[in-house]
Amino acid sequence: MGSSATDLELPPADSPSLVLAKATEAERLRTWSKTHPLWGPALSREDYLAREAYLTTVPLAKDGGITHWILTDARAPPDARPIYSSCESLRKPALAAYRVKKQGEGGGEAVKVEDGLAHGVGSVFTDEKYRGRGYAGRMMQEMGRALRTWQAGTRAGASGPHGCGCGSGNGGVVAVSDGKEEEEEEEEAPEGTRCLFSILYSDIGKKFYASRGWAPFASTHLSFPPAAAAAATAKDNAAADSQAAAATNGSSSNGTTELRARPIGYHELAELCAVDERQLRASLARRAARRGSGKTTHVALVPNLDQMLWHLMREDFVTKHVFGRTPAVRGAVYGAPGRRLWAVWTRGYYGGLERVEGNTLHVLRFAVEGWREEGGDPAIDDDDDDDDDHDHESCRGEGGDYEYLAAGMRAIVRLAQAEAAEWRSADVQMWNPPPALRRAVDLAGLEHEVVERDKDSIASLMWYGKQGRTEELDWVLNEKYGWC
Ligand SMILES: CC(C)(COP(=O)(O)OP(=O)(O)OC[C@H]1O[C@@H](n2cnc3c(N)ncnc32)[C@H](O)[C@@H]1OP(=O)(O)O)[C@@H](O)C(=O)NCCC(=O)NCCS
Repeated sequence: MGSSATDLELPPADSPSLVLAKATEAERLRTWSKTHPLWGPALSREDYLAREAYLTTVPLAKDGGITHWILTDARAPPDARPIYSSCESLRKPALAAYRVKKQGEGGGEAVKVEDGLAHGVGSVFTDEKYRGRGYAGRMMQEMGRALRTWQAGTRAGASGPHGCGCGSGNGGVVAVSDGKEEEEEEEEAPEGTRCLFSILYSDIGKKFYASRGWAPFASTHLSFPPAAAAAATAKDNAAADSQAAAATNGSSSNGTTELRARPIGYHELAELCAVDERQLRASLARRAARRGSGKTTHVALVPNLDQMLWHLMREDFVTKHVFGRTPAVRGAVYGAPGRRLWAVWTRGYYGGLERVEGNTLHVLRFAVEGWREEGGDPAIDDDDDDDDDHDHESCRGEGGDYEYLAAGMRAIVRLAQAEAAEWRSADVQMWNPPPALRRAVDLAGLEHEVVERDKDSIASLMWYGKQGRTEELDWVLNEKYGWC
């Protein structure tokens, strides 16, 4: 069934007949067929369609977590209506930390860490024949408004009465408006289930989405070259028992024993993610409480197991089809429990086997466990110089924290570089590492480039909460695991 756009005059972008609607299965297929050359060149058309369908069944996306949206004409019936523009939203667990007035006598302020939802918007696309008419702009204007309440009342990762967002019975039309701002008092969802914010990663620069409410945030990454030469060493190291490694690897200048990085497999992720989430919650509370935080709201996507599995299962599908096998090494961990550093990573293929430049090994999350609490968390906090009471000299000396960080960073990045070489990736990327980790990379003497992106993957966020404005937010852990 083809588009019936020719039967209808192409409406202007501000036409009241344009609506945001949930795509039917056939409409999803139509969209995916169009986006395949752009986003699936490493896969055959058939495999790309299968991947997109499979991506509705994985953690985060399953049980209605993913929604496929189209901008269409309300006058035409589902499956026979034009698709002027399309995109997806993926529901994710999120947190926001801010100060609240204390109840009762005495007054003062307390810190609150609120659970909620965020939506990641991706795959924004307009068919070539409809481009330049303002359709994507209109769709995003509608999306910004719709996502504020979309699936509010549900929890990310859980199905529920609202969870699938289905059952509208009107062609899946979700929002109808004439494009003008409407101020309506919505009934608020129970706490813990509100939509806190939406995010997207713009590949068309900062302007287009910023003018529709998604402000650009830090979009820097470190790029490490793949290291075929280091592959054998890193593999050997990885296979070695960590205790034996500690005994044979020698010592650094301050007496800190250098350990080796060990590969992370699927089975280790649940525990690591739980530690990471616990530390993030503590860090958010600390940030909101600290001097100078004032009215700043601190937000983050929860780096839980589901967030990682969404990437890893996507990666499994692609590597199975490109290489005929799936990788065993999904990251690397360094050090003993209580003082571990780890990275979880995923391989992304836009170039396939032919064009290695399109392929990247992305560090989804780089975490550090058990850093001295009062000093902040080097893998989370953006500014480790803001605590007047913190003595960085002792931090460097006693226990050699920075040397330890540097040694861990070196071991982990080397393993990542070896994996990148083995899996035909052009580089290893680490998004927005905080200053302490940047320092660790320098101290480790790792060859790298600092890339400030101004066109691709611009991390952008629209805030729906009452505390503060989008531009004033502190986006904590603005790392690759948030991408979709
Ligand atoms: C980007 C895209 C969705 C725009 O769709 P559209 O319906 O033509 O968009 P509109 O007519 O509403 O607006 C065009 C806007 O996109 C901008 N734009 C389009 N392609 C762009 C590009 N490659 N780089 C920068 N801006 C671009 C235009 O400058 C214009 O901006 P303005 O409204 O601020 O003036 C469409 O070109 C497309 O599908 N491209 C391929 C997929 C893609 O890149 N998607 C975006 C992923 S973040």
